[in-house]
Amino acid sequence: MSIDIQRDGRVALLTINRPEVLNALSTEILEELYSEITDLARDNSVGAIVLTGAGDKAFIAGADIAELATKTPLEARAYGELGQDIAHRLETMRKPTIAAVNGYALGGGCEMALACDIRLCSDNAVFGQPEVNLGIMPGWGGTQRLARTTSLGFAKEIVLTGRMVPAEEAFQRGLVQAIHPQEDLVPKALEMAADIAAKSPVSVAYAKEATNRALHGDLGANFVHEVDLFAILFSTEDAKEGLQAFTEKRPPRFIGK
Ligand code: COA
Repeated sequence: MSIDIQRDGRVALLTINRPEVLNALSTEILEELYSEITDLARDNSVGAIVLTGAGDKAFIAGADIAELATKTPLEARAYGELGQDIAHRLETMRKPTIAAVNGYALGGGCEMALACDIRLCSDNAVFGQPEVNLGIMPGWGGTQRLARTTSLGFAKEIVLTGRMVPAEEAFQRGLVQAIHPQEDLVPKALEMAADIAAKSPVSVAYAKEATNRALHGDLGANFVHEVDLFAILFSTEDAKEGLQAFTEKRPPRFIGK
């Protein structure tokens, strides 16, 4: 198995474990990743997921280039769709996903990080979409998510030049939310995940769902959707508990209903 899963309370740490090729994603790993995140998405005992890469050099150095070199157009289409499905699931599942980017996040690695809700990185992290250097282009959502996460101009520069983006610049561009020393990165990501996982999973899921719409669709419809979800939460025991606990000056005990 090329993916390790460690559980700590309500947090799952998912590590891509293929450091000999900088955690490059082969079809085999993609299928395993799809299956694991599908299981984690359905598991009510999991409140948040952290995604990282094994070793201290790379998060994910992209799609497996040796495998890509053998693909026909139809195989490339299926491979692209599988990567897009995983990215979509990370982005839309009810629980938060945090990328702990511990080195190179290139091509598909940058795209998987972009699909997570929150990105934290180590000081040696490097982001990029270098596909044009190989005569191809991003296919797992990078052209869209990089532009929506940063800006259209920055995304075009990075996608068209294939330039590597160091951690500090990624932070300035809003591509990552924080930079940590390498040894602190995963502990910090787990700490953030545990903090979110301790909240009401229903409120977290609805808050994620509403925020996901921020850069899509019609603003008026999104406001209506937001206020509908806001109202629905008042039917939950967690909302009653959270509001009451505040007035009683005690920590809330959420049950996910
Ligand atoms: N797919 C397959 N193998 C990869 C890979 C990828 N995306 N990225 C790295 N590797 C392999 C290398 O071939 C090398 O294998 P080897 O030891 O059998 O020769 C090993 O991982 C280590 O990489 P190496 O290139 O020696 O490390 P480096 O420190 O000199 O350079 C990178 C690191 C990330 C700059 C370089 O590996 C690179 O450019 N990788 C490709 C990134 C990319 O284009 N990703 C998008 C793919 S669509």
